[in-house]
Amino acid sequence: MTEGHTAEHWLGRSVKRKEDDRFLQGRGNYVDDINLPGMLHMSILRSPLAHARISSIDTSAAEALPGVVAVVTGELLAQHNLAWMPTLSGDTQAVLATDKVRMQGQEVACVIAEDPYVAHDALELIEVDYDPLPPVITPQQSLEPGAPVIRDDKEDKHDNRIYHWEAGDKEATDRAFEQADRVVEFSTFYPRCHPAPMETCGCVADVNPVTGKVTIYMTSQAPHVHRTVFALVTGLPEHQIQIISPDIGGGFGNKVPVYPGYVVATAASLLIGRPVKWIEDRTGNLISTGFARDFYMKGALALRSDGKMLGLRVNMLSDQGYAYADAQPSKLRAGLFHIVTGSYDIPAAHVVTDGAYTNKAPGGVAYRCSFRVTEASFFIERLVQTAAYELGVDPAELRRRNFIRPEQFPYTSATGFVYDSGNYEQAMDKALEMLGYEDLKAEQARAREEGKLLGIGLATFTEVVGAGPSKDYDILGLKMFDSAELRVHPTGKAILKIGVQTQGQGHETTFAQIVANELGIPPQDVLVQHGDTDNTPYGLGTYASRSTPTAGAATAMVSRKLRDKARQLAAHVLEVAPEDLEWVGDRFQVKGAPDRQTTIQEAAFAAYTNHPQGMEAGLEGVTYYDPPNMTYPFGAYAVAVEVDRGTGQWKVKRVVAVDDCGVRINPMIVEGQIMGGLTEGFAMAAMELITFDELGNCIGSNFSDYLIPTAWETPKFELGETVTPSPHHPIGAKGVGESATVGSPAAFVNAVVDALAHAGVRELEMPIGPDKVWKALAEAGLAE
Ligand code: CDP
Repeated sequence: MTEGHTAEHWLGRSVKRKEDDRFLQGRGNYVDDINLPGMLHMSILRSPLAHARISSIDTSAAEALPGVVAVVTGELLAQHNLAWMPTLSGDTQAVLATDKVRMQGQEVACVIAEDPYVAHDALELIEVDYDPLPPVITPQQSLEPGAPVIRDDKEDKHDNRIYHWEAGDKEATDRAFEQADRVVEFSTFYPRCHPAPMETCGCVADVNPVTGKVTIYMTSQAPHVHRTVFALVTGLPEHQIQIISPDIGGGFGNKVPVYPGYVVATAASLLIGRPVKWIEDRTGNLISTGFARDFYMKGALALRSDGKMLGLRVNMLSDQGYAYADAQPSKLRAGLFHIVTGSYDIPAAHVVTDGAYTNKAPGGVAYRCSFRVTEASFFIERLVQTAAYELGVDPAELRRRNFIRPEQFPYTSATGFVYDSGNYEQAMDKALEMLGYEDLKAEQARAREEGKLLGIGLATFTEVVGAGPSKDYDILGLKMFDSAELRVHPTGKAILKIGVQTQGQGHETTFAQIVANELGIPPQDVLVQHGDTDNTPYGLGTYASRSTPTAGAATAMVSRKLRDKARQLAAHVLEVAPEDLEWVGDRFQVKGAPDRQTTIQEAAFAAYTNHPQGMEAGLEGVTYYDPPNMTYPFGAYAVAVEVDRGTGQWKVKRVVAVDDCGVRINPMIVEGQIMGGLTEGFAMAAMELITFDELGNCIGSNFSDYLIPTAWETPKFELGETVTPSPHHPIGAKGVGESATVGSPAAFVNAVVDALAHAGVRELEMPIGPDKVWKALAEAGLAE
């Protein structure tokens, strides 16, 4: 090499996904692909009733069925102190019901058999006597005095309230409302929906009867946390538990909680001495595992007559199901809902949140969102649009007047977040330009004159991702740092082991790109390993778009550590002082004599063949990264829809999404994440819903009732970007995996409402089916 050598850049490059080689060839390795010698199969009997006392369970006929090895009940588990387990939010949840069932679909008994079909058939032979109790279906009913107490298993629990939590400053907010010229109120419901990953949950539990070592292959977004929970529940030592999370067919938050199936399969393997496989069926997944949202929100914005926002009040009531089982940071009972001031400079805010038990599945998981930021973002973006109508100001203009300005960063919000960086107006301007906002508004006016309905919806959202700084963020006391361990082999190839766990996000590629960017080892020479607690450093897992902000940062930092050591090695090889060397991206060269150089590969070789006396051999290290702050990605989404006055059907004409996630490691992967998120946002706005009848029967327990969009229904997306680096992240990156799910539902709903807004329509509850639109059209006198 000669003077002027420049290494290849690996950030901002759409490197093809390394993992796709195996997926495209059908060679992925999912939990259900794992088959061990002597393996048994488990099936779960679920409660048909939402609330009932169990008077007896007779398992004798099931046990007598040929091929059945054992039937496990709550009573049997209770003998081993395993009938209840802790949840990640510090509550308890039944593993198998003992006293009563508290939701339809609750796990009542498990059959372990030689064959999965026998296990399933045997469920029908189990006789359970239930004494029905009145079910509690809504959180409002649940908090009424005299409501049946759902968690009467807890001696000190005499009502159904789980938490009451407040953020912000009540007095300052009251003063802001006193000074306001206008107060605009808004209330809405973000309905229950489900992450519905393509692969349901499951595990293969393998307890070695000789060594006692427990190996669990498991659909886990957080293998290390799950191992710690298993150790705490069972009393088994952690070094005797290995959790292996192989390829995962989508998680979206659904694979964060611990589910009864995992625990029973493990206990059964321990007691029987053979591996046990449990693979959840689709209905089991939809009715019993972590649902999302189910938030009732109401609030008000205090405004000056010129549109300046002075204060925000929000009350939120969350339906948690029968256990508080989502994973919220322990200090933040309603997660990050208090980011509800969004992208706006609102000087005073007060947020009051309550959570209640109901006779439904536990959940409230952050379905592709960072601890309830989706609900918060939805609420403020719907409220701002309502305020714009009430003030008679264009919704884009009202936002522009209230955005936090670039020079205000780092910006401390009224509820205590310190936003790292942002340029909201720039992102919105770009989205409006791409959409052709002014022309579209003129078209909307013309269309109205012709009796046609066109709607334009905006959402300019701010997320908070990358949990998180250990001073504020922990789950069950486990601080939310993350980790990376990097070893460069003698030939200059590397293995990176990380504490996070991909479920389709492409970590095997992007994390290799981070190493490549720091050390100049090309991504194809960096193997990324994750999802195995024996072979990766401790980390809190992948959810809440935290991988890049935490483990991504750890990867950059550990690479830099190794680069420092490589400098010493290169200096030794070149017989110069380390300060005389300059790093040029993939090699060190002597300052002033650039033809004298040592590549990173040569330095790595020296680490094993020619290291200086007194220096430790090898080139490897580990970094545990405790982020100094969260990252705050943001974006501006604009949607245009047409509404049919005859049927209430709405059709998406345009979707423009401008995202800013700081420095993009791999633009192709980022765009894939955004398109996936937009599809899910559209789905929530248009069709996804889990609801219940008055007896607590779940409606939405299969893909005929629970609708998810196919490629046919999914609109086309037009993407744009701005880049505002995070000032505290080592490579300036912010998380992005969930941005579009967080930002887009409000844009879709705002668009449909906007089509009807001139007739006074202000609210349409998600999912917005044609029936709801038609009713609103009829009430507004717009129906044809
Ligand atoms: O935690 P999770 O992986 O779900 O979310 P993320 O950290 O936002 O990353 C999603 C994917 O996008 C990963 O492959 C990231 O490395 C990639 N990404 C990127 O290329 N550039 C960014 N600024 C952020 C994420």
